[in-house]
Amino acid sequence: MLIKTRKASDIPSSEITPASVYFSRRDFMRGVGGIAIGSAAGVLMSGDAMAEDANRSPALLNLASKPAWLVQKISQRKPAPPSGPFAAADEKTPFNDATTYNNFYEFGTDKTDPSSRAKNFAIDPWSVEIAGECNKPGKYTLEDILKPHTLEDRVYRLRCVEAWSMVIPWVGFSLGDLLKRFEPNGNAKFVEFQTLQDPKQFPEQSSRFATIHWPYMEGLRMDEAMHPLAMMAVGLYGDAMPAQNGAPIRLVVPWKYGFKSIKSIVRIRFRSEMPTNTWKDLQPSEYGFYANVNPAVNHPRWSQATERRLPTSLFMPHRIETKPFNGYADEVESLYAGMDLRKNY
Ligand code: MTE
Repeated sequence: MLIKTRKASDIPSSEITPASVYFSRRDFMRGVGGIAIGSAAGVLMSGDAMAEDANRSPALLNLASKPAWLVQKISQRKPAPPSGPFAAADEKTPFNDATTYNNFYEFGTDKTDPSSRAKNFAIDPWSVEIAGECNKPGKYTLEDILKPHTLEDRVYRLRCVEAWSMVIPWVGFSLGDLLKRFEPNGNAKFVEFQTLQDPKQFPEQSSRFATIHWPYMEGLRMDEAMHPLAMMAVGLYGDAMPAQNGAPIRLVVPWKYGFKSIKSIVRIRFRSEMPTNTWKDLQPSEYGFYANVNPAVNHPRWSQATERRLPTSLFMPHRIETKPFNGYADEVESLYAGMDLRKNY
């Protein structure tokens, strides 16, 4: 998503497989004795093997500590339903790929910067400020934020605007259930989210070369935010959220491009007006407020008709067709009835 001009001959960054993904895939192919070229690793693994993911590297959590109450709460989560939109049937992306191929510009712009620079990220204490058009504004500890909610596993597809995708088993709960607790009033038409601003934890926030205006901001229309698929996630693969994936609490909106799914949230504000969002603010001709996954509307610099489903390699690109609303059209299309989605990209 970098804003830069490039020659037509350059390979887009979205086409380059990072070494970690390439090598883990190569090791896997070696392990299975070189089974047929052309089958993606994810396709070869059984669902159970993938769920256990024996190759998971615990160091990749990158957290200074995990509060005991959070560990306990996550251990009491409900399993994902056997099927349906909360449990994508797609093969899950291996843990080590989902946690080493990240976009988290506060740590740097390379895909491996977040996992390598997020060591000892501190999430305790953490609080979330609730502000704006509601009856119960205030500063809530993370424990207070989570207390009334039963956590659950949800397997969602994540489609980045850069045309790669993953399938991630999140741990969390519906955003709407959280928002209702603060009693938004009649003026609350939108909800705005803000990431932590702390250059001690996020090196890029003090970089002279950063292009983003910190803190990272996002927003949803109120009816989008209340949709049951919109999720607050506090973990993945049955564990706490790794720092590079947005610890301790992030948004996941599976029918929208990944940049809407803002990480490490410290403020939620109910607003009467449409909030700005970081990528729209940087490049409004390329990124909009709605950002619904839409294969019919190309990014000005690349096609959105297909996506690379990770893990991939140069020899096994695992390119698949992108579906409208990332495959969640049955659930969310009605939110946009009568809207021109080419204009409202
Ligand atoms: N949130 C913050 N605060 N900073 C970011 O740079 N990147 C976004 C989104 N949330 C980003 C962010 C983008 S572009 C994507 S695709 C997803 O996070 C990636 O989530 P993942 O790294 O967990 O796969």
